[in-house]
Amino acid sequence: MPDSLTLRVNGREVTVPRGSMVSAAVALSGAAAFRRSVTGEPRGPLCGMGICFECRVTIDGREHVRSCQEPCRAGMNVEVGQADSAQNVSASTNGAAQSRYDIVVVGAGPAGLAATRCARETGASVALLDDNPAPGGQIWRAMVSNSAEALISSRVVAAPAPGHLTIETASGTLDLAYRCLILATGARERFLPFPGWTLPNVMGAGGLQALAKSGLPIAGKNVIVAGSGPLLLAVAKYLRDHGAHVRLIAEQASHPAVIGFALRLAAHPQKLAQAIQLRASLAITRHLTSCWPVRAEGRERLEAVTLRRRDLTWTEPCDYLACGFGLVPNTELAALLGCRLAGGAVAIDEMQQTSVAGIYAAGEATGIGGLELSVVEGEIAGYAAAGSLAAARARFSARQTHRHFAALLDRAFALREGLRHLAGDDTLVCRCEDVTLGRVRACTGWREAKLHTRCGMGPCQGRVCGGALEFLQGWHADSTRPPVFPARLNTLTGDRRNVSR
Ligand SMILES: Cc1cc2nc3c(=O)[nH]c(=O)nc-3n(C[C@H](O)[C@H](O)[C@H](O)COP(=O)(O)OP(=O)(O)OC[C@H]3O[C@@H](n4cnc5c(N)ncnc54)[C@H](O)[C@@H]3O)c2cc1C
Ligand code: FES
Repeated sequence: MPDSLTLRVNGREVTVPRGSMVSAAVALSGAAAFRRSVTGEPRGPLCGMGICFECRVTIDGREHVRSCQEPCRAGMNVEVGQADSAQNVSASTNGAAQSRYDIVVVGAGPAGLAATRCARETGASVALLDDNPAPGGQIWRAMVSNSAEALISSRVVAAPAPGHLTIETASGTLDLAYRCLILATGARERFLPFPGWTLPNVMGAGGLQALAKSGLPIAGKNVIVAGSGPLLLAVAKYLRDHGAHVRLIAEQASHPAVIGFALRLAAHPQKLAQAIQLRASLAITRHLTSCWPVRAEGRERLEAVTLRRRDLTWTEPCDYLACGFGLVPNTELAALLGCRLAGGAVAIDEMQQTSVAGIYAAGEATGIGGLELSVVEGEIAGYAAAGSLAAARARFSARQTHRHFAALLDRAFALREGLRHLAGDDTLVCRCEDVTLGRVRACTGWREAKLHTRCGMGPCQGRVCGGALEFLQGWHADSTRPPVFPARLNTLTGDRRNVSR
């Protein structure tokens, strides 16, 4: 089988390596804008993981397809750069199939994979599903083979009755019935608005990494990596290893905070070794603490970034800005199911069970703690949901160790007050509906902002502006309503055909 394939983007032939996502083909075609916003601004991918909906294109006549989640196929016709209406969601006439499992695991990242492995060990019937086109989650994106037996490109959009989920796939709708449910929905990046942040090629840090893993050609590009947290180093190394010129890593945390974090890693020898290795591999890359972007500039796409460090402000030309200010747990599905949230994450007991009996949660949806904590939480949830409580208890001490690391991370990379002033009144905060921060600030809270400005009402359903407004205004989403992701009309209302397994 040839290792490349050819498709068309706006009528132009583009050849990409097999396995690339459509987002990579669009970038290779030279198109700057993937879509136009409701006020006509050029937009391109931001998150690289299917949550921002900024990379929407039309594929073979299907509108609003997220190009970062859609694998390229030979002969595909992709249309980009069109004016877009956020409310215009296409309908289809697919039927629905129904299946019943002991345990359903939502999310095939490290936590969900671990939960599935442990639950299957006990003989339980387990369905694992993920919105992404391959299992692996954010860190092992497409590196895990389909032997994990996951229902891929399948996302939970609603929970029509206790013990039932509505799943939307590319080809139809599935009703899954479960005895126990494990939510391993992970986290997304926190994006903070600043002037110019909506320009194409301003992306999340993990977002640019995800897009590069999906085939975006990055070799020879000038990149600035900015924001906060150890993810910046991992991203910088990945991009550099793939031929990008990483001009600068700008970390908002102070030098003492970063050094203090490194010293405390002595309690976590494996993490310390990883950190030393990562830092050494980036020894010749400029790494500035107490530094962050204040403006992105360019016409149809990013051309330069203005940064600030203490009293100094300067401008660096670049092709990409990879910018993320830490991670935010994905709690929408848990909230829809009535699970209690605490501190912005899903609240759990010692067995990883949520406040709703039979619903468990694991990994970064329960709080940001890194890969190892996600895996051990997944193991505990998998065993506990399957009734193997002794096996679950045997993992408690490992979880405690990794929780200590999570607390260190949280303290060291807390966002500084000064970042609250990055956006001005005329800076867009809601990218789906093009709502400025000034309009949102005139409201008393989330509910009023939604009603009066449509902030958070577009396809990302507040996943981008919600994390920003939590930091900027101290607002938390007041409720989650179905669908938790934009869905086809008949997924929610339609023609259902029940097929038993
Ligand atoms: C963008 C990004 C990049 C990262 N890069 C690195 C890195 O390079 N190195 C590192 O050490 N750590 C990285 N991390 C952190 C790392 O991903 C986590 O520590 C770890 O992967 C968390 O595992 P998890 O299983 O909890 O979640 P994830 O790996 O995030 O997996 C959650 C999965 O749930 C799926 N999902 C969510 N909602 C639904 C739904 N409704 N229906 C169906 N599926 C759903 C998602 O598609 C996703 O695949 C990154 C995190 C992010 C957000
Ligand atoms: S870049 Fe595709 S959804 Fe965000």
